[in-house]
Amino acid sequence: MKIVVIQGPNLNMLGVREQQIYGPMKLEQIHAQMKDVATQHKIDIEFFQSNLEGELVDKIQECYGEANGIIINAAAYTHTSIAIRDAIAAVNLPTIEVHISNIHRREEFRKDNMIAPVCTSSIVGFGPFGYHLSMMGMIQIMNEVQAAQEAQQQAK
Ligand code: DQA
Repeated sequence: MKIVVIQGPNLNMLGVREQQIYGPMKLEQIHAQMKDVATQHKIDIEFFQSNLEGELVDKIQECYGEANGIIINAAAYTHTSIAIRDAIAAVNLPTIEVHISNIHRREEFRKDNMIAPVCTSSIVGFGPFGYHLSMMGMIQIMNEVQAAQEAQQQAK
């Protein structure tokens, strides 16, 4: 089982950028915690961050046939990117979107979300802990998928 974690623009600045909104934790620290959880559950995990829309699209496409699930914070592209939305729909993998802040109680433009309708679920407003919740959610989804596949095998 493999999870790919995809981080969008400016998330490499966590710990520096707008700490009153995003807190003091750095992206590396968030990833280290996620890696611990993955190791405990014997799951492969890969981390990718880019400030470029096309690179995020490429990474999502690479997940096809390679990964069992995607955890994505598309950051500002959440509100604008039909290309990222289409890539998520194309690979058709269990996908959880995470937002550190509660995008629903911020500026009006953050209420537009191109990504959410093609994701399995959304986790918003829990701070960096949202990434831990996304791991829990993804492990649950993977267990359910595996159980369904096993049941299908037995029915044959
Ligand atoms: C964000 C919310 C977005 O609106 C913003 O552009 C970000 C981070 C979040 O994690 O809260 O860069 O995705």
